[in-house]
Amino acid sequence: MDKIRIVGGRPLNGVIPVSGAKNAALPLMIASLLTPETLTLHNLPRLADVSLLVRILGNHGVDYMINGKKPGQTVTSGQTVRLSAEHIVDTFAPYELVAKMRASFWVLAPLLARMGHAKVSLPGGCAIGTRPVDLLLMAMEKLGAQISIEAGYVIAKAPDGLRGGHINFDKVTVGGTHMALMAASLALGHTLIENAAREPEIVDLADCLVKMGARIHGAGTSRIEIEGVAGLKGAEHHVMPDRIETGTYAMAVAMTGGDILLEGARPELLQSALDVLTQVGAHISTTNEGIRVSRNGAGLQAVDVETAPFPGFPTDLQAQFMALMTRAKGSSRITETIFENRFMHVQELARLGAKIRLDGDTAIVDGVDDLQGAPVMATDLRASVSLVIAALAAKGETTVNRVYHLDRGFEHLEAKLSACGADVTRLAQAG
Ligand code: UD1
Repeated sequence: MDKIRIVGGRPLNGVIPVSGAKNAALPLMIASLLTPETLTLHNLPRLADVSLLVRILGNHGVDYMINGKKPGQTVTSGQTVRLSAEHIVDTFAPYELVAKMRASFWVLAPLLARMGHAKVSLPGGCAIGTRPVDLLLMAMEKLGAQISIEAGYVIAKAPDGLRGGHINFDKVTVGGTHMALMAASLALGHTLIENAAREPEIVDLADCLVKMGARIHGAGTSRIEIEGVAGLKGAEHHVMPDRIETGTYAMAVAMTGGDILLEGARPELLQSALDVLTQVGAHISTTNEGIRVSRNGAGLQAVDVETAPFPGFPTDLQAQFMALMTRAKGSSRITETIFENRFMHVQELARLGAKIRLDGDTAIVDGVDDLQGAPVMATDLRASVSLVIAALAAKGETTVNRVYHLDRGFEHLEAKLSACGADVTRLAQAG
């Protein structure tokens, strides 16, 4: 398994191109199951999760074509993938595949809507709390599906097709909203989704579904209405920029000092995080090309943060922000309200010299003057990159083990950081 070695203490200066958003790419790819025609997606990030989902969709009968790099494109340019689900050959998604990536559970919605049945393994995914699927299944039931669970598998049936319904989520769920949008687009009649997730990735999926012929109003608000159509057609769509990657590199430069242009980034996708970074002491400006983040030698201020659904501070930036706060002046309280048990990075940050106490769903971070490099272990996707951020500012050498988590969600991480002056090397290891 590969490791990443980082020698800390260098500022970041230069340009980091922002990749297509993983969390938009995955539901967009899954939406290809809704139509017998070709869905062409541009700007897909080159990530392990994207490759895995291509394989999963292939098992259901989706033909795919991936465009290579064109002359003149940099290694960080996104890829174009054409997905054609003309013949769905299988509505079964086995444990071995779904367990590797939680989002692949969402195939249940388009398979059910188009084929009238699906059998999908209960998911695995990042080890951050219990992550149940009750709300996802409730949404399908409201659209007329009969659901049973047998031996770790969800069996969903709608022999006469889905019909519109009223879905009221008692907790905001991104996956539940994605599934409801996809299924309701092909359900007979009108669907109302209340307390829908407002994340930009929901809007990206809805925009693509509308291009495919769906009739959706209100995406991006907590009340979405859908008028079902009999069939959807092919379309072409550009995946939105990754707001979590953007926020991660913004925090990295706040940590190390320097001046970075996050090319292609859109500030409205992460305004709450940018506001927090300004309070911390980073200088943030928007240009035609993206977002510019800089910090001079002045220290970091401790700021309290509470995660919340969009437009609040994203849970997917909580670990990175905690890394940043380990070197702030004073004490910061970081409260995680979305996922239980999303503090696995705390122990590893402590190995680098961070002072963090846990009090229920709150971490109290007392800033220290210096972190010290050490071997650390990546535990999940966002936790792994928080260790990278800490290591960039730590004295000496840090090795981050189990970097496959990083490969799931960060495209060309070491190339992007090295190009801006960081000392980051991947050490390939057999086995
Ligand atoms: C998505 C993102 C993930 C992000 C999360 C919250 C993708 C691929 N993943 O995950 O990166 O951290 O949104 O912004 O887009 N819940 C239930 N029952 C359910 C479903 C969810 O109780 O049936 C709970 C979850 O345990 C969690 C909360 O609802 O506490 C939010 O989860 P959800 O928004 O569904 O997260 P994901 O869609 O899995």
